[in-house]
Amino acid sequence: MTPGIRPLVAGNWKMNGLKSALGELEIMRDASKPGNKPNHDMLVCVPFTLLAQAAEMASRSSFNIGAQDCHKNISGAHTGDISVEMIADCGAEAVIVGHSERRTDHGETNIEVLGKANAALDWGHMAIICIGESESQRKSGETLNVLKAQMDGSIPDSPANGEIVVAYEPIWAIGTGLTPTVQDISEAHNFMRNELVDRFGEAGKSIRLLYGGSVKPANAKELMGIDNVDGALVGGASLKAVDFLGICEAYQ
Ligand code: 13P
Repeated sequence: MTPGIRPLVAGNWKMNGLKSALGELEIMRDASKPGNKPNHDMLVCVPFTLLAQAAEMASRSSFNIGAQDCHKNISGAHTGDISVEMIADCGAEAVIVGHSERRTDHGETNIEVLGKANAALDWGHMAIICIGESESQRKSGETLNVLKAQMDGSIPDSPANGEIVVAYEPIWAIGTGLTPTVQDISEAHNFMRNELVDRFGEAGKSIRLLYGGSVKPANAKELMGIDNVDGALVGGASLKAVDFLGICEAYQ
């Protein structure tokens, strides 16, 4: 954790979740009600198909809903794409950009991720910008260089009306049950914090840094204890309320 930063536990449902899954969100929302008010922010990024219903369900609670991608333009001839204005129209407040699955599956480059992040921030959304090295990059000792290039290339110069959040997700730790050592996460997050402070000065000290990659209730407390880890970006374990809330307990 970073003193003075309110942690964020964010879920990423990826390409999972039908209407029948909204019941899980309802349980998560109820856990965030006044009275149970957690010491951290909660967000779940659902597929576009559930965005409006999920946001409606979460309205008037401190539980937030986000999307998993956006286009850099506000409207136009971009078949199949979704703009930040459409996301806001659904009632959602956050967008994940540059997830490694999009960088890999859709060949998204840093410059494209930057465009998406700028669009999200200009619209007043929280932009969760994902970075992380592959297994071969880690093995060849390139991790910090990769993180620097991704940060330089895909993080906007200013948060505009929104909030920049940076998520460190080593690609080899996603969905594999593997996590880096505490020392490796600490090295990456301290490096990211220093980069942000070099670039943004004092403001860089309050940018939330999330760790993602096989976060589970069983390892959440240990991860949360690492300096400059201000929350988690959770994939598989965010699909079930019992697991997601189990992770949230580490932040109480
Ligand atoms: P898992 O938690 O399933 O490893 O996924 C992490 C992730 O990619 C979140 O964006």
